[in-house]
Amino acid sequence: MTTQELKTSFENLYHASAEAIYFSPGRVNLIGEHTDYNGGYVFPCALSFGTYLLLRKNGQNVVNFRSLNQPEVTALSFDQLTTRLENSWVNYPLGVIAQFIKRGVKFETGLDILIWGNVPNGAGLSSSAALEVVTAYALNDLLGTGYDRTELAKIGQKAEHEFALVNCGIMDQFASANGKKDHAIFLDCNTLDFELVPVKLEGIKVLISNTHSPHKLDSGAYNQRVAECKRAVELISKVRPISYLAELTEADFKAVESALESDLIAHKRARHVVTEVQRTTDAVKALKAGELEKFGKMMNASHVSLRDDYEVTGLELDTMAEEAWKVPGVIGSRMTGGGFGGCTVSLVKEEAIDTFIEKVGTAYKAKTGITPDFYVAEIGDGASKLL
Ligand code: GLA
Repeated sequence: MTTQELKTSFENLYHASAEAIYFSPGRVNLIGEHTDYNGGYVFPCALSFGTYLLLRKNGQNVVNFRSLNQPEVTALSFDQLTTRLENSWVNYPLGVIAQFIKRGVKFETGLDILIWGNVPNGAGLSSSAALEVVTAYALNDLLGTGYDRTELAKIGQKAEHEFALVNCGIMDQFASANGKKDHAIFLDCNTLDFELVPVKLEGIKVLISNTHSPHKLDSGAYNQRVAECKRAVELISKVRPISYLAELTEADFKAVESALESDLIAHKRARHVVTEVQRTTDAVKALKAGELEKFGKMMNASHVSLRDDYEVTGLELDTMAEEAWKVPGVIGSRMTGGGFGGCTVSLVKEEAIDTFIEKVGTAYKAKTGITPDFYVAEIGDGASKLL
């Protein structure tokens, strides 16, 4: 949909013109999975697709929420802006508004809000973070609150915790806020220091494969992983006090892993985190040195660790990645995002893309009965005001 079409839709629904249009992207993570809430490294990039938000001040005491992707229409008075709703997409923008109110921001007029997004929902490409960050970016601009992009990401993350009830890390919101065209973000999730690394690779594309098996982040399995890591930290802290798992190098981990003997699950989860942090550092180093084969090997090893130690893959994601590994011209392939369904990300030589789609698509359909989708990712910029 073009911005003109979005403006027309807004006028048709609200019988007035939008004052501004904002955009914030989804993301794909190249490597560094389930490390963010463990204080480790991640390496995501913002996508060229994402979520659009149009708004106007309506001069009333009500905030109206509509989405071109959802039938539901919601109108909330000022005193309803800090309470989460049951089962509603509105919780994402509402959760962000609640964070502004918590920080002392006063709403003097109501708003008419219209959302439209083109990130496939439930694909693990951060449609929810895009919605949170576009709302935070728009409010920050409209209300003149002056928060920087990192603060906006933190607001989005808090909204996710309190209104979507997912105890996520900062990666998705950070990538949506801070992305840069043709770059990936090497982010230290403990300090939030980051470096933009070019990923415009000669003759190689970032290919996203959608399993169309919805990832179920809100099913509790994600929060369960967060809790298992916390448990690992507690057990390890009995022999060596730590605040988060990514503090440990692989050698440190070897020295303390006997503290996890009583809890085999916590042991596996911790091993994934510690090795994934190392893989992410090594992979970024390899990419900077132009050693793509090495980067690809790290991606594959990341998938194996997420499959065997972190146990967040499943038949669909495993089939998609394992079939990709067989195709000549594939540099590396792994699940991306929270897991339990969603997408894989692969680096593929341009001349192998058609074969990839044909071969992997056929094998995947044969094994799972599901028709997948493939997109060549364009790496885009973070949140912005379009008009
Ligand atoms: C989801 C969360 C992120 C991150 C990933 C896994 O996308 O929102 O914070 O934990 O899963 O790496």
